[in-house]
Amino acid sequence: MFAFFVLTLRFMIKIVSVVGARPQFIKAASLSRIFKSNFANKVEEILVHTGQHYDTKMSDVFFNELEIEKPRYNLGVGSGSHAHQTGEALVQLERVLQDENPDAMIVFGDTNATLAGALAASKMKIPIAHVESGLRSFNMKMPEEVNRVITDSLSSFLFCPTEQAVRNLKHLDFDTKKKVSGLNPLVLNVGDVMFDTSLFYRQKASRSILDVLEIKEGQFVLATMHRDFNTDNKERLSTILKALDELSLLIPIILPLHPRTKSKMDEMKIPAPKNLRFIEPVSYLQMLALEDGAKFIVTDSGGVQKEAFFFEKPTLILRHETEWTEIVDNGNAFLCDADTFKIKQAFSYLLENPSFTYPSFYGKGNAAELICKTLVDHLS
Ligand code: UD1
Ligand code: UDP
Repeated sequence: MFAFFVLTLRFMIKIVSVVGARPQFIKAASLSRIFKSNFANKVEEILVHTGQHYDTKMSDVFFNELEIEKPRYNLGVGSGSHAHQTGEALVQLERVLQDENPDAMIVFGDTNATLAGALAASKMKIPIAHVESGLRSFNMKMPEEVNRVITDSLSSFLFCPTEQAVRNLKHLDFDTKKKVSGLNPLVLNVGDVMFDTSLFYRQKASRSILDVLEIKEGQFVLATMHRDFNTDNKERLSTILKALDELSLLIPIILPLHPRTKSKMDEMKIPAPKNLRFIEPVSYLQMLALEDGAKFIVTDSGGVQKEAFFFEKPTLILRHETEWTEIVDNGNAFLCDADTFKIKQAFSYLLENPSFTYPSFYGKGNAAELICKTLVDHLS
């Protein structure tokens, strides 16, 4: 019996998954579920939370709702500069990796937790699996773009959500990568794990949020905004808020307020708009209900752009460019930047009920299965 136990442990693949910010809990949920349901006797997943997001409404609520196991480690890095968040997580992750000695690390998306994870693992020659690999805005002023470029260049498993993401990786120097990781880098379009998560949870969406907010299906617009280039620039932030405030006279606009946006409004003494409806950040199941119920969506979020597409809602993007180019090329989304004219023009157009097509750009809803199986096959 003891020998069997030792043998089982010996052949378990140990994987450290690193998360830190709201969208990463949602991405990790799909993988953790598949590891548990399909590979429980093959994979031990150790979840590490860097603690970048820490408010109950930015963190705990997702672990509870999505039934993700409590992270084994919470590094508590909290808010601060990029160097603080990345450096603090890097130092602590190195200790975790020394203690756990995993066979691989999974990192998600493009936050400072992603970068810290990739740096820590690469220096210890631990293979890195990057989920949501290959995305590019081609705007190196975005901290996320820096994180993506570096993480992709260090990863051995590059799990892309779209064909465009695969094309974006064509230039990578794979000979050098092979030497660093000891593995042949694998670039695969598996589809989008956020699509998996939204399919799994859409039946459970908390539709009562519409009653609580006294809004009706199809008769409101959902908005989110948190990108630093919008929130940290007084002119851009004021322009967007003023435009949305005026447009709220045409149809209610509900905006769950990201703590970054709130703190920047306080810091820059920008008063809360009169008509635009700010609410606290909502849970994932509430967010799904709001996305599903909205007439259309206004956002600068990466995740919300895609979820809008999953729910077949057109989108007004408060950015100059996007990594999810297919939704713009297909006419589902409009890049409006912080330009009052473009915002108002696209908003008026979307109020007229134009119809759109929604091709399956984001896979079949089995991205997590493909990722987990690929890792098990290669690491066994
Ligand atoms: C981070 C990610 C961004 C991602 C976003 C998702 C980086 C570089 N940025 O941006 O890619 O799109 O998460 O939401 O990793 N705050 C709180 N409570 C919290 C968390 C944050 O009050 O629980 C406030 C603090 O004032 C903090 C500010 O929000 O300074 C910004 O948080 P931070 O994690 O630094 O960046 P995000 O804008 O959330
Ligand atoms: N989200 C949420 N509550 C909110 C706002 C967003 O649950 O109040 C979810 C949203 O459904 C999506 C993810 O958070 O799954 C997107 O995160 P965010 O916009 O913070 O980051 P980004 O995707 O831009 O990195």
